[in-house]
Amino acid sequence: YPVPTPVNEPIKSYKAGSPEKIALKAAVAQMRSEELDVPMYIGAEKVTTDDKVRMAPPYDHQHTLGYFNRGDADHVEQAINAALGAKDAWQSLSWEHRASIFLKAADLLAGPYRAKINAATMLGQSKNAFQAEIDSACELIDFLRFNVHFMTQIYSQQPISSPGMWNRLEYRPLEGFIFAITPFNFTAIAGNLSAAPAMMGNTIVWKPADTQIYSAQVIMEVFKEAGLPDGVINLIYTDGPVAGDVVFNHRDFAGLHFTGSTAVFQQLWKTIGENVTKYRTYPRIVGETGGKDFIIAHKSANPKAVATGIVRGAFEFQGQKCSAASRAYIPQNIWDETKAKVLSDLDTITVGSPEDFTNFVNAVIDERAFDKISGYIDKIKASDHAEIIAGGGYDKSKGYFIEPTVVVTKDPMFLTMCEEIFGPVITIYVYHPEHFEEALELVDKTSDYALTGAIFSDDRYAIELATKKLQNAAGNFYINDKPTGAVVGQQPFGGARGSGTNDKAGSVLNLLRWVSPRTIKETF
Ligand code: NAD
Ligand code: ALA
Repeated sequence: YPVPTPVNEPIKSYKAGSPEKIALKAAVAQMRSEELDVPMYIGAEKVTTDDKVRMAPPYDHQHTLGYFNRGDADHVEQAINAALGAKDAWQSLSWEHRASIFLKAADLLAGPYRAKINAATMLGQSKNAFQAEIDSACELIDFLRFNVHFMTQIYSQQPISSPGMWNRLEYRPLEGFIFAITPFNFTAIAGNLSAAPAMMGNTIVWKPADTQIYSAQVIMEVFKEAGLPDGVINLIYTDGPVAGDVVFNHRDFAGLHFTGSTAVFQQLWKTIGENVTKYRTYPRIVGETGGKDFIIAHKSANPKAVATGIVRGAFEFQGQKCSAASRAYIPQNIWDETKAKVLSDLDTITVGSPEDFTNFVNAVIDERAFDKISGYIDKIKASDHAEIIAGGGYDKSKGYFIEPTVVVTKDPMFLTMCEEIFGPVITIYVYHPEHFEEALELVDKTSDYALTGAIFSDDRYAIELATKKLQNAAGNFYINDKPTGAVVGQQPFGGARGSGTNDKAGSVLNLLRWVSPRTIKETF
């Protein structure tokens, strides 16, 4: 039964007096006033422990939002057993019934849970209302609805048959359980990494980042309310290595669905490789990892458009987006105008708490991120090879606030042109307008990542040259737009090189990784 092609969930405006703003303010006030005791979800049980870990808003770290219950190796073992125990019943459901649960979850998020999931993302991950709406409402809803659309495409792909013979492809789930390890920075990614393999018939152990547990728990409540059977997704809160020690030594470990840093993913891949003889099957390894995303402008580019791309691409979501622009190559002939517009745009941007609904830039996620980003800013200040032309300030007394920071360097291989900072810092290299090809080569060779990138130009030959020369420099390539903001179903998302296995979240390609097809030939 084909489902209709879904449309993207419309983004609400949150303008003054709108019903969505009133509901969101009420949800934020309500959640701020309670101290939650957030359980793990293992099988049918909500599990609490004696190891309570405090959760706080990154922009107001003295306030307590509640506590999550940290688990240990026994809890990981229990979650694996619950996932394996739920497998037969889950797989006996037709795919339409599995899909229905997630379509209902999408409707719950779009309606009665919208304010709550957005409030949780604001409070727990320091996103303003608009950022939360784009991430935890629209993108997560889109993932769930579009995945169902992709399921219909996958299951209908069948081989040809001949007279006297019928050939079939059976899209079996993987044999074993899937381990989903998810990052702090996108509620939608966390929800999709656990949901996508489950939709294809697998059962899951899901370990979110500690700093995303506050919104992960809301997602889990939504999945349960939508009818997800016990044990299909098991949500545990342990330190990464504690979970890894149990999971990666388990015979039934069948796949890793990871999003996070390149260093952690490479370590996990190595461990899985070392243990490969222990497993029943070769595990699927899917990982979306770090980035050093670029903007390159050609001499024909409109400087105002380039400046907007820099400001929005680098500083929306506090720069804590895997796709955020963090290096730019601007030709000298448009630099003065580009710079003037970047600086005047930054004059209008305020940094502060998301709860006042006006701040464009909010706190970064935690002290570790703050120290890393401010450490880079200190190195820039101490260097003779780079100059800060805007921002450069930081303050962690109340929350982890970092000013949007624009750096200019004459050294195209300067530290902050090459390394992922994952914060609101962009470094710009100004090049000779006649050296466009050399600039493209710099873009390609400067970083080992290849996630997103953008070319700004009014010259079709320059656009074509950049598209060809940068063919391996980005998994998502944007022409005359910022390198962020991929929309599910419109721009399948993912990168290669050090940025991941490029299995394109929000597409058929990702869902195909969670099946192990069986060919059946029958003769008559
Ligand atoms: P991180 O690597 O620190 O953590 C990611 C997850 O891995 C967390 O759940 C963490 O607890 C877990 N983890 C850490 N060490 C582990 C271990 N030894 N064993 C098992 N699990 C372990 O990343 P983060 O700070 O949460 O997220 C930021 C990073 O994610 C950035 O590098 C960013 O570029 C990347 N990211 C990439 C994409 C993408 O689509 N390419 C999307 C979002 C974020
Ligand atoms: N979907 C997000 C973006 O493209 C990660 O910016």
